[in-house]
Amino acid sequence: MTNTIGLICGSLRRNSYNRIIAQSLAEMVDAYQFRWIDINDLPLFNEDLESSGVQEAVTSFRSAIHDVDGVIIVSPEYDSGIPGVLKNALDWASRPRSVLNRKPVGLIGATPGGLGTALAQLQIRQVLEAMEVRVLPFQKVLISQVHKKIDSDQFVLTDEHTKHQLERYLQQFIDWIDHTKV
Ligand SMILES: Cc1cc2nc3c(=O)[nH]c(=O)nc-3n(C[C@H](O)[C@H](O)[C@H](O)COP(=O)(O)O)c2cc1C
Repeated sequence: MTNTIGLICGSLRRNSYNRIIAQSLAEMVDAYQFRWIDINDLPLFNEDLESSGVQEAVTSFRSAIHDVDGVIIVSPEYDSGIPGVLKNALDWASRPRSVLNRKPVGLIGATPGGLGTALAQLQIRQVLEAMEVRVLPFQKVLISQVHKKIDSDQFVLTDEHTKHQLERYLQQFIDWIDHTKV
């Protein structure tokens, strides 16, 4: 199977900055394919739904994660924490058996604010560690003032420093996928 990285965006907003950042990753390497893993159609997590039969959106979300070699989550920060839609998606990924268990996962976040989603990333990492996910250690990509780093008409990342930072992170993530396979 072709090497594939799944991309999850923690924002449902149409012109999401985080989605633009995630899209830019997909254009940075040839050795991997990228696949969007949508969280838009997931219902609110409810244990009752597990016994009555989960919806197609949940099944395809879980199998998309299962099929990829690693997942990169690109997420905003809401109220100094993890966006509810992303936490909801991670809860669906975790039950009844975690499809993220031992899966390599990378974390990136962008905000027009000054702290680059640092607080949200701490929470996301905490949740992933509870799920025994192999989160890329040590490296962080905290993109602040993101509105100044993209072309908002073309919806593309233009800031060269951020591009280099993302390229470096992506290479480290690919190495992490290889490292966790052995
Ligand atoms: C409910 C809500 C809470 C927010 N809280 C934070 C926050 O704690 N820290 C921050 O940097 N930005 C915060 N923001 C601003 C977001 O970073 C901004 O809306 C950003 O564009 C969202 O990401 P997106 O463009 O990918 O949708 C908040 C936005 C919303 C809607």
